[in-house]
Amino acid sequence: MVDGTYILEMYNICKSYPPVQALDNISFRLKAGSVHVLLGENGAGKSTLMKILSGEEQPDAGQIVYMGQTVKFPNPKASQKARISIIHQELTPIYDMKIAENLFLGRSFSKFGGLVMDYRRLYRKADELLNEVGLDVSPKRLMRDLTVAQIQMVEIAKAISRNAKIIIMDEPTSAISDVEVETLFKIIKKLKHQGTGIIYISHKMNEIYGIADEISVLRDGASVGNYLPNEINRQQLIEKLVDRPVSEMFPERKIKKGERVLSVKNFSCKKVFQNISFELYKGEILGLGGLMGSGRTQIVETIFGIMKPTGGTIKLNGEVVEHKNPRQAIKNNIGLITDDRKLKGLVLQMDIAQNIVMASYEKVSSRFVMDYKKVARISSEYARSLNLNMHGTKQLAGKLSGGNQQKVVLAKWMVLDPDILIFDEPTRGIDIGSKEEIYRLISQLAQSGKSIIFISSEMQEMVGMCDRILVLNKGLLRGELKKNEMTQANIMKLASG
Ligand SMILES: Nc1ncnc2c1ncn2[C@@H]1O[C@H](COP(=O)(O)OP(=O)(O)OP(=O)(O)O)[C@@H](O)[C@H]1O
Ligand SMILES: [Mg+2]
Repeated sequence: MVDGTYILEMYNICKSYPPVQALDNISFRLKAGSVHVLLGENGAGKSTLMKILSGEEQPDAGQIVYMGQTVKFPNPKASQKARISIIHQELTPIYDMKIAENLFLGRSFSKFGGLVMDYRRLYRKADELLNEVGLDVSPKRLMRDLTVAQIQMVEIAKAISRNAKIIIMDEPTSAISDVEVETLFKIIKKLKHQGTGIIYISHKMNEIYGIADEISVLRDGASVGNYLPNEINRQQLIEKLVDRPVSEMFPERKIKKGERVLSVKNFSCKKVFQNISFELYKGEILGLGGLMGSGRTQIVETIFGIMKPTGGTIKLNGEVVEHKNPRQAIKNNIGLITDDRKLKGLVLQMDIAQNIVMASYEKVSSRFVMDYKKVARISSEYARSLNLNMHGTKQLAGKLSGGNQQKVVLAKWMVLDPDILIFDEPTRGIDIGSKEEIYRLISQLAQSGKSIIFISSEMQEMVGMCDRILVLNKGLLRGELKKNEMTQANIMKLASG
């Protein structure tokens, strides 16, 4: 219900992290009951603008008018109190908490005059909320047991429960698959009807037109323009974003399937996945398809030694191996590029260069001494080829924008140069121009004889990149799609049957 009144107006917002001018005189307005999509390449300033609204960052200059009044949000509490909710791009839940406790964090569920926690009511309410977002897990489970996608859905449920006037969704669909995206869009429609204003950030061009009432584009901290969705088509929008021609195409590749490098037999892990058998060949890109929670990530994490299998074997080049930890997997020439850069991929307190060479110590040292010139050369090389938005490889990884952090994780594994590369959501949070670069790099790796396992929740990406796709459903292998059978519809049929 767009009634024309602006619930939020931000004027001439400036913010710098010297020497970076993250926001340069940005103005942004949001109507009640509408969805305002915010677009821009990695590092354009989207999250920074949102952090100013959520009270996490203070602007150097500018004005915020909220429901007709000039306001300041000196801290996150102040913004929450004004009923502004943010779903962060980088999720940081408290892992030792139960889902229900996390949902109602800071709100009291007590009985007997506040002396005793009313757990029954807490769990019932939590159950209702989880149902609403279509998440089928017990509210008693710990946050640490959830996948990134499930955590994202819990965060969405949390924002809904707070009766927010404004909900900021900073890349809410980066880790969820197409089915959950539909659920989210239904929720968004409902929220609009209740008059909630939604600020929506995404790099997925497909979803934008379905929900946007208004679109704003940022580039390098400056405003490029403000559009109604029927004023600008997809290609024009991409040109505004990137400022250079982008083909959006998947690279052509001659498939040269070589000998078998990996065979996984009757692989099982308790309730998570059972009896998984498949083979991976030199030079191929093998896709693992399926919905959130189908077990894709857990299978590759078990191959990589993060989780322990309860049955089955893996053979590498014909020999049975066991990976008790990731170190052993790396030694056996396997790399896992994960979708969870905070936990597994990146050391945020270290600089970009150190992160990039972290796993390849031998390659950058001579006689056990780190060769810093080499570190600088190699890391700049990869930073350039991945189009990293930074002001030097000495910058701390934690100070990069979300998408640029993901690129550092990619660079790290490319330097290590393993024979088998497992990509789990490699383009999560990556802007459209750089996605193309990453497709090209992965394709080149396969061409040069590497074996690749590829996981993505974007089906278009699976179809565009893979030579064949194994589809999983609730921890079981449901079928294999050959190149000529690979369509989104066929994947869905197996994934949700
Ligand atoms: N805490 C910080 N310290 C220093 N620089 C920062 C900090 N936070 C952000 N920046 C810089 O500000 C710029 C804007 O970052 P921001 O996170 O807002 O980008 P973004 O548009 O959200 O990108 P992405 O799509 O990758 O999430 C980037 O150049 C980033 O490196
Ligand atoms: Mg961001």
